[in-house]
Amino acid sequence: MPFFELAGQKLFFEELGQGTPIVLVHGYPLDGRVWQDVGRILSKSCRVIVPDLRGFGQSGHVQQLSMAQMAQDLVGLLDNLNIPACAFAGLSMGGYVLQKLTQIAPARISRLILVDTRANADAEDARKKREAMAAMVLEKGSSSVADAMMGNMMSPDHSPVVEKRLRDIMESQRPATLAAACLAMRDREEFLSRIPNLPMPLDVLVGDQDVISPLDVAKEMVSQSKHAQLHIIRGAGHMSPIEKPEEVSAALFKVLKS
Ligand code: MLT
Repeated sequence: MPFFELAGQKLFFEELGQGTPIVLVHGYPLDGRVWQDVGRILSKSCRVIVPDLRGFGQSGHVQQLSMAQMAQDLVGLLDNLNIPACAFAGLSMGGYVLQKLTQIAPARISRLILVDTRANADAEDARKKREAMAAMVLEKGSSSVADAMMGNMMSPDHSPVVEKRLRDIMESQRPATLAAACLAMRDREEFLSRIPNLPMPLDVLVGDQDVISPLDVAKEMVSQSKHAQLHIIRGAGHMSPIEKPEEVSAALFKVLKS
């Protein structure tokens, strides 16, 4: 199993296939398994790298997290694999981590792909909800987060099999990681105003039934730059990679070839 060590933490990643490298970064409260189907499809002609972010999945225990630390871990991952720069796709919170990466190591990103995510900072009410969720998960465990979020994660027509897979991933995360991630998301910075000056191409993918980071939010991001492209995944909610892996992979193949 591939692990590397950074800042005292053993970090897990999976690597599949050969060719143009792409790193797929998971969201909250998940791990790299949410990209499993997309990774398998893309690996037919790409080198696909899927980390578990610090504290998630097989990447150890944490008490604290920040977008900067998780972004720094992605730099460490590329260093470990001797990859100077590559395309990155980040799902939701994974997108927030990549937004930070554009600040700390822009030269390592050849292409920024934001999937079902947003570019604003949390307003005061959203910050309070993060704190409430952090307290809830420490008291009641990870299944309480799955219960609270599941109704908004996928399109109304999603398959029960996919829902079960998603729930298993959510419930297997450590409560301390999920609490720390809530506070890291609460403290993330605004990104929208930085889009016009991004030094790399930007692509935004969104499920047309995403109710957490809706289509309007994706359109607003794309409108900030003449060079950004919007890719709409029909029939998908917030978890487009696990709900519509063929369609998301097709969009990513298109992006990587352009
Ligand atoms: C995610 O899917 O990573 C989260 O819904 C992001 C968020 O809560 O802002």
